[in-house]
Amino acid sequence: MSSEIRRIAINTGGGDAPGLNAVIRAVVLAAEELGWEAYGIDRSYDGLFEEGGVYRLDRAAVRGITHLGGTILGTTNRGNPLKWPVTKPDGSVAYEDRTKEVIDALHAHGIDAVVAIGGDGSLTIAHELFKAGLKVVGVPKTIDNDLAATNLTFGFLTAVETATEAIDKLHSTAQAHARVMVIELMGRTAGWIALEAGVAGTADVILIPEIPYDLDTVCEKIESRYRVGRRGFAMVVVAEGAFPKGGEPHFKRKDGGQIRLGGVAEEVGMAIHERTGRETRSLVLGHLQRGGGPNAYDRLLSLRFGAAAVRLIRDAAYGCMVALDGNNILAVPLGQAIAKIKNVPLDSDVIATARSLGICLGD
Ligand code: F6P
Repeated sequence: MSSEIRRIAINTGGGDAPGLNAVIRAVVLAAEELGWEAYGIDRSYDGLFEEGGVYRLDRAAVRGITHLGGTILGTTNRGNPLKWPVTKPDGSVAYEDRTKEVIDALHAHGIDAVVAIGGDGSLTIAHELFKAGLKVVGVPKTIDNDLAATNLTFGFLTAVETATEAIDKLHSTAQAHARVMVIELMGRTAGWIALEAGVAGTADVILIPEIPYDLDTVCEKIESRYRVGRRGFAMVVVAEGAFPKGGEPHFKRKDGGQIRLGGVAEEVGMAIHERTGRETRSLVLGHLQRGGGPNAYDRLLSLRFGAAAVRLIRDAAYGCMVALDGNNILAVPLGQAIAKIKNVPLDSDVIATARSLGICLGD
């Protein structure tokens, strides 16, 4: 039991995900129930070094935000206090470790503990801050669902729902024009969104990073879809991190030092057209998958995660992340949570389901 806690702070780091505001509300209300004060840090840790960047979050500040997308605190997937970009007098940029400054700034604001809501990047930062002495607990957030040690991250199921609706809409236009439609979905190096939305949306082909694809196999499946009747069509779902056998993922460009995935749908679409002669269109669903409010399940999961994070602080379980295990919320060490990316297991039931339904996985 942690008796010395009076003030906690919340930060939201990395890419946004539906459910962030619900977590924030749950943390604030659960903290108030214990008689603590909650504070928000603006845009990950950036606010610590700005006037007014750390502000009180009371019950009124979080009223009516559970269903809203984005995050009232703002976020960034660039600011890393362990590698803080500093412009030198000669214009060159050097990277400094500001771990001590972060912890000192938190103490200067009277913050006793932090709830860090993030994906593997933000939780790695949280883990380093914990090792440097900060009382911190983590909440697993990412639409990619690629965090080990939790069955689900919040935001994932909403992204799957958005992607499934998009696939449904593409079906009608693909059918009307007897075209091949190729849709690229997010997920970084994991195929969770593409696999689950692809199966739910009854795609003909689903390509994920866990299964390098063979274009001949893909094109055979496409052709079989045109043999079923007078006006065949085909739906192809591609994860942004998918790549051909013997090949590499498709990188769009380097953005502020970060490599961004993208462009594989266009590449696959062009290859299908060249090999089959079928009229093909491709699109990238992009950040629509991160936008909007959380669905009911993600809202509930976010509220459960937020409330559980406060209980971890109450119980002095610092350096841990809340995690979903079956229908229970557990605490797992941050080090374990960030140790590896969670990819789709090849023996997963959803893969078996896809194969049973005759969906081509490109192998
Ligand atoms: O990690 C979440 C995610 O949406 C990935 O699926 C995607 O590759 C990446 O973030 C996009 O990041 P950005 O917001 O920098 O474009």
